[in-house]
Amino acid sequence: MQTHEIIRRFTDHFVSTGHTRVPSASLILDDPTLLFVNAGMVQFKPYFLGDAPAPYPRATSIQKCVRTGDIEEVGRTTRHNTFFQMAGNFSFGDYFKAGAIEHAWELITSGAGFGIDPDKLWATVYRTDDEALELWRKFLPESRIQRRGGKDNYWDMGVPGPGGPCSEIYFDRGPEHGRDGVDTSGGPEADEDRYLEIWNLVFMQDIRGDLSPKEEHPPIGTLPKKNIDTGMGVERVATLLQGVENVYETDLVRPVISRAEEFSGRRYGANVEDDVRFRVIADHARSGVMIIGDGVTPSNEGRGYVLRRLLRRIVRSARLLGVQEPVLNSFAEVVRDAMAPSYPELATDFERISAVVRNEEESFLQTLTAGSRIFDTAVTTVKAAGSTRLPGDQAFKLHDTYGFPIELTLEMAAEAGLTVDEPGFRTLMAEQRDRAKADAKAHKTGHSDGTAYRAVLDAAGGTEFLGYTDVTGESRVVGLIVDGVGVPAAGKGTAVEVVLDRTPFYAEGGGQQADTGWIRGDGFSVEVTDVQSPVAGLSVHRGTVTDGEVTIDAPVQAEVDVTRRQAISRAHSATHLVHAGMRKALGDAAAQAGSLNAPGRLRFDFTSPAGAVPASVLADVEDEVNDVLLNDHEVRAFVTTQDEARRIGAMALFGEKYGDRVRVVEIGDYSRELCGGTHVHRSGQLGLVKLLSEASIGSGVRRVEALVGLDAFRFLAKEHVLVSQLAEQFKAKPEELPERIGGVVERLRVAERELEKVRADAVLSSAGALADSAEDVAGTALVAVAAPDGIGGNDLRALASDVRGRLGARPGVVALFSADGDKLSFVVATTSAARDAGLAAGKLVPSFAAAVGGRGGGKPDLAQGGGTDPSGIPAAIDALRRRLASA
Ligand code: SER
Repeated sequence: MQTHEIIRRFTDHFVSTGHTRVPSASLILDDPTLLFVNAGMVQFKPYFLGDAPAPYPRATSIQKCVRTGDIEEVGRTTRHNTFFQMAGNFSFGDYFKAGAIEHAWELITSGAGFGIDPDKLWATVYRTDDEALELWRKFLPESRIQRRGGKDNYWDMGVPGPGGPCSEIYFDRGPEHGRDGVDTSGGPEADEDRYLEIWNLVFMQDIRGDLSPKEEHPPIGTLPKKNIDTGMGVERVATLLQGVENVYETDLVRPVISRAEEFSGRRYGANVEDDVRFRVIADHARSGVMIIGDGVTPSNEGRGYVLRRLLRRIVRSARLLGVQEPVLNSFAEVVRDAMAPSYPELATDFERISAVVRNEEESFLQTLTAGSRIFDTAVTTVKAAGSTRLPGDQAFKLHDTYGFPIELTLEMAAEAGLTVDEPGFRTLMAEQRDRAKADAKAHKTGHSDGTAYRAVLDAAGGTEFLGYTDVTGESRVVGLIVDGVGVPAAGKGTAVEVVLDRTPFYAEGGGQQADTGWIRGDGFSVEVTDVQSPVAGLSVHRGTVTDGEVTIDAPVQAEVDVTRRQAISRAHSATHLVHAGMRKALGDAAAQAGSLNAPGRLRFDFTSPAGAVPASVLADVEDEVNDVLLNDHEVRAFVTTQDEARRIGAMALFGEKYGDRVRVVEIGDYSRELCGGTHVHRSGQLGLVKLLSEASIGSGVRRVEALVGLDAFRFLAKEHVLVSQLAEQFKAKPEELPERIGGVVERLRVAERELEKVRADAVLSSAGALADSAEDVAGTALVAVAAPDGIGGNDLRALASDVRGRLGARPGVVALFSADGDKLSFVVATTSAARDAGLAAGKLVPSFAAAVGGRGGGKPDLAQGGGTDPSGIPAAIDALRRRLASA
């Protein structure tokens, strides 16, 4: 049974039993505790916790999931894959254990479902869950129901949140897949390769705190209702129903392996090591494409880093299969074709996805070439020193300078028969992180531990935002935090974090900078310098108490710095216009990848498959945007459903979390975008938008920067003054300046070239005098001198050859040094008589190189090199002289 059919039958089964079909959430949800969505229940978390009323009593979804905890295991076992689809059914206070078990059993065993032979099935229940055990006895003999402990049969998110005991369904693949339990009662307890878990039914009833392991720490509370959360591994079921060995060989994954076979000319199944590489490629290609599809681009941190690792591991694996040419785009195409029936956006958005993978591959191949050289040198050095361990600082350098993920260094080292000093590497990484953290802390007084914030949120509820309409507001202090700890009061001079029940202050988010301003109450005031939302729903005002003492419960007046806010709002509206303008000019592939809206200026990052945006296109976009300003469109914000927003063509940012209700900001008919930020009322208020620059910020992402309003005007005025000054200096009209300056630069270039030639001639003409100055050292004519400073390698070589020629048939050695700042170059040349006498240029270098802190080498007739200590030139000449004397 094909995967798409499995998905169809699953969905039909639950829709026909009253479940609302909910689309998969993006892999990127706005949950700071999760890198990627890793279970079907993530998008329903608020309904389980009772934070929001569930819009339906029952739901079903096929959720895209990424788990990257054990990337190393991918391809080595039959079960690990980084991307998978979790099919689930959910009950929010509706049916419970009996319903969940009956629904699952019916689907798995019936003909309209998966038609699996009931005799092959096993179930597990939580140690003390007699109720679940009893329910299973309706379908299974007791010998095939096992009780297991919390590690296996209690599910939580691994972070504070909902959880509960669970019951899992296993399929027995037969004795050829593992132990049949001769020494045990068999079943999942004996071997999880033979007994494959296919479905997990979680009886969601508890609230888990942040203490682990879960076996030792009981839940901290009970959920308002008893719920069901189930997760069936679509790929695992496909493995069984397609009768293949593992997930990599199922219908949606295997085509990538076939493509890799075509590329490499090798066959899957022929060689154990190659097979791991094929499977790594197949798995990672799929995860990579799906992650990019949800808006992530490769980078050096967080999700971007995971993506980078995945993509780079594909390229490496392909190399190990003997493929030299670029592969990522081709693999991405195969993934698109396999996955688009379920995720059509992969096809419509493919141009962007393809640009991202092509860019990443290109830059990685460059990195690989440069880094591999460094790596090879390091390996040679390590081996020459009789060691088998690559030092941590080398691994760090490869990481820091050449972007080699440590995993890559580990793999390459293993191939070269070496280990890596990983602890040493980690120490250096930690030091670097600490430095970065110290920087960040100086910038923002953030506390990483969110306990104090969550306590305020639990006690007082969230913060109501007034700032769309108001810049001042009456409110009340509901939380005070000093140094990460909740306090009842804070006095003058204290750096404090203030939480209000309602606030006009905008917390940094969606690219928009935070408001600043003042919180004033009876006898006290706080100057607010930053506003953040460390936990969803809560705004935290950071600042200093400038007067009196602020206390919990005090009524206050909150006042936003209006001038700054207006300048930020102008920038934000301008960003929407630039976004719309770019899309019109470059097509939909120019998707927003990030932005910054600061007072009077903005930054807009976007994907650009075609590379740099021509200046003429930028000029057109700028023109068009300013035209929109002149037409003074109304700016309107309204809340609607996600479907409606999509219908009216509102642009949405990939990876942003959207609830059912979304806020749309529209500027006339020109721009329509989902957005939580603040804006001007009419486009005319922007005054002027000036695009400043456009540049690559890596991996197919470009950045434009722009000024807005008075800042744009001042910039243009300054440029005008500058141009006037230049015109004055060059005695030219402004429009003649480019030509005039071009002429001057060209004349300068010609003059420089001539000067260079004169210098070179002068140097070369000294050859005769140098040859004449040769001294006799043990029968060899030696010319060893410091030539004038700054002679480049070519001239130095030419001069040395010339001098050598003049030494004729004598045994002769010429060594010329030329300093250049704190560096130097040198050349050694030998006559053929000298070479006959055993003096090879390359072999002479080590006799003096150390004296100038340098190294070099070459052939018997000519060697060259460089050094870092010009003051050592006389000592080097002496050393060479001694070497010849002892020859
Ligand atoms: N949340 C459970 C899991 O991820 C069931 O959906 O396994």
